Amino acid sequence: MRVAQNSDQRSPEFFRFLEQSLQLASRARDIQRLFDRLSISHDASFYVPFIGFAKPSRFGHLHLAAGQGYIIVTLVIESLMNKFIEGENTFGARNYAPLPVVLTRGEGCHVWDTDGNRYLDMMSAYSAVSHGHAHPKLVQVMRAQSGRLSVVSRAFYTDQLAPFLEKACGLARMDRALPMNTGVEAIETALKAARRWAYEVKGIADDAAEIIVCRGNFHGRTIAAVAMSSETQYRRHFGPFPPGFRSIDYADVQALEAAINPNTAAFVVEPIQGEGGINVPPNGYLAACETICRNNNVLLICDEIQTGLGRTGKFLAGEHDDVHPDIVVLGKALGGGLYPVSLMLARREIVDLFEPGDHGSTFGGNPLAAAIGLAALNVLIDEKLIENSEAMGRRLNKGLRELASPLIKEVRGKGLLIGMEIDSQGPDARTVCERLMEHGILTKETHETVVRIAPPLIIDRGTVDWAIETIGKTLKGLTD
Ligand SMILES: Cc1ncc(COP(=O)(O)O)c(C=O)c1O
Repeated sequence: MRVAQNSDQRSPEFFRFLEQSLQLASRARDIQRLFDRLSISHDASFYVPFIGFAKPSRFGHLHLAAGQGYIIVTLVIESLMNKFIEGENTFGARNYAPLPVVLTRGEGCHVWDTDGNRYLDMMSAYSAVSHGHAHPKLVQVMRAQSGRLSVVSRAFYTDQLAPFLEKACGLARMDRALPMNTGVEAIETALKAARRWAYEVKGIADDAAEIIVCRGNFHGRTIAAVAMSSETQYRRHFGPFPPGFRSIDYADVQALEAAINPNTAAFVVEPIQGEGGINVPPNGYLAACETICRNNNVLLICDEIQTGLGRTGKFLAGEHDDVHPDIVVLGKALGGGLYPVSLMLARREIVDLFEPGDHGSTFGGNPLAAAIGLAALNVLIDEKLIENSEAMGRRLNKGLRELASPLIKEVRGKGLLIGMEIDSQGPDARTVCERLMEHGILTKETHETVVRIAPPLIIDRGTVDWAIETIGKTLKGLTD
């Protein structure tokens, strides 16, 4: 990148300084759009010829100052993004550490920031946006239904809920479903169902039921969900926790067998641990768990909130092992990337343990949610997103392995749920995510070493190949 030295009075050092500053910045962009969108300080116009060479920093703004005895000049290109970042940091709780990018629009696999930069979304809102952003059919259903009837509570029947539940039960091979909103509410519902089953069907003494969970799990953020967690940060100073959970190692069949006792109600497991680091158990693990649960009259609860709905190349990830759990929990992509929709699905005799007034949610199963949920399931099937997830996942997985980057310790996953483990000698996963952002790919680390790669299931070959190439270039840049 060169800066033309056609501006007479400035010293060569100034131009070197300017050039260096521009070298530090990293993404090319359209100069016209930049000026349309950004506010530039009053004396910056002089430097307009140079901006054409500028590659703005990841914050979308460039702060150039030449001082130290030369002519003192400040060029400030202030991004709109800072205002929003500061606003969130000032008025919002700081319970997330977002990458410094402010998004304003999404379409398909891509999102745009407030400065007009386009990114490939390889995170899909932790798999909630499997259908891509603003899927036209889903947006159309949402518009139509919200103009007709959105929320009436479950005090009344609506014409939307039955078709949605019927479709979901059919696809998940379950008898009945209980609708909630977020994933963790559906998990909570599953825990309640399992405990009630333990007391009323299995005959466990009151308040003695135990539920086995796996270390490294992620089932959400309520007190019950963090009571199941082994992650210190998720639990610190949130106690006391409800009792009745027993932790075992993930992917350890013997540990499950050993942990079961007469008071065991259920075993809760993610077919692939997502937040825990995209941990893929050996083939046959879930099937072995199912057998152990059956033999011991223990319910198998699969948390498919992240792995379900085609994310791993099957409708449910449990299908890779041909498993048919007692309870399945779905969320995230069930809302088509537009709305929170979750379900606990189970066999009739389990769901029927709930009687009117036992459990519920004002918004759960509302007609808007039901209409979107049904449309999300239909799109998944009609547009063959599950098959695409399998094919594109295979391609992406293979492509990432073939990069043979010294920074990549392992690439693992199924379908389009992929974890790229960064060698602990290299940069941390957050740094990799920040660099990927500069190169136009958005994703998020999970723990210190794993970069999560989970694009919308609509992604096509060309975009997958671009992503592989760009990830390769980014990693190369980190080793050079
Ligand atoms: C496997 C799993 N279970 C439960 C949850 C919680 O879902 P929600 O954030 O919608 O409450 C998540 C969210 O990441 C998840 O990945």
